[in-house]
Amino acid sequence: MSTRHRPPVEARVYVPAPGEASDVEPVPAGDVTEGVVRVGGTIRRPHQPQSLAVAAYLDWLEDAGFEGAPRFLGRDAEGRDVLTFLAGECAGPVPEAWVQSEELLASVARLLRRLHTASAGFVPAAHPFPPRYTPPGAVSPEPAELVCHLDVTPQNVVVREGLAVGLVDFDLAGPATAFKDSFNTASHWAPLRDPADGWPGWEANDPFRRLRIFADAYGWTDAERHALPAFGIEAAALSYRRMEHNARVLGGGWARMWGEGVGGMIRRRGAWLEANADRFVDALTGR
Ligand SMILES: Nc1ncnc2c1ncn2[C@@H]1O[C@H](COP(=O)(O)OP(=O)(O)OP(=O)(O)O)[C@@H](O)[C@H]1O
Ligand SMILES: [Mg+2]
Repeated sequence: MSTRHRPPVEARVYVPAPGEASDVEPVPAGDVTEGVVRVGGTIRRPHQPQSLAVAAYLDWLEDAGFEGAPRFLGRDAEGRDVLTFLAGECAGPVPEAWVQSEELLASVARLLRRLHTASAGFVPAAHPFPPRYTPPGAVSPEPAELVCHLDVTPQNVVVREGLAVGLVDFDLAGPATAFKDSFNTASHWAPLRDPADGWPGWEANDPFRRLRIFADAYGWTDAERHALPAFGIEAAALSYRRMEHNARVLGGGWARMWGEGVGGMIRRRGAWLEANADRFVDALTGR
């Protein structure tokens, strides 16, 4: 439990303690947000439209006793968001061999489950999350069941002694469903990618086996296991339209990823899920 005084997120100012470390250290570059750095025991990130909604969510998680998320400490003299630095290792842009550990995979699923339990009841009333783009005609797969992370990639998980202990980078957090978040996480960690798009060094990986490990560790229901292929195919279609929209409208890192061919990769994922639908259900439900 925190005993520090916590002003409302919009009024919270970060004042370094006298003599506090001020060396700026780089962090591994992510996909979208530029200018993320570490300063002593803190992370500084550019302030963004969703920052206050994220900050209120991080406060809620702290009060709920969830230890696996940074704390929002306020904004610094440059206006940047200041968050606590979580010690440990995160994967680099191409996940290293150690990221393949099945114990790590199961611990990611358990950590996500704890996040969802801790998130229950949080209503982003004072600072709503900016709505995500939903293409015309798309059925929104995100009824506001609960606020969750929605970007639990290997690069956004903090690992200590081989186990997932923290989640960082809540930039895409917002209202969705627990299944959406856990599907999304599994698709990053199995990973659910056409083998043609696999990471170097991951060729021997069995995504069917890994998905089962994730499902068991998270606790997917039988209905969720059966729903997975259709859900994944629809999610890929929506993700394609969203990424295309973000690349065109927001530019920046989104446009760079689009230029690098992420659209084709999402399409191949959808086709691969469709081609292997029965195999996925068998892997998820077989004894
Ligand atoms: N609070 C934190 N504690 C420890 N490490 C962090 C923290 N925040 C960020 N990092 C490290 O810095 C890296 C980049 O930060 P972050 O994920 O927040 O930005 P990003 O990936 O560039 O943003 P985005 O995913 O929105 O494009 C992370 O992958 C992680 O290695
Ligand atoms: Mg990141």
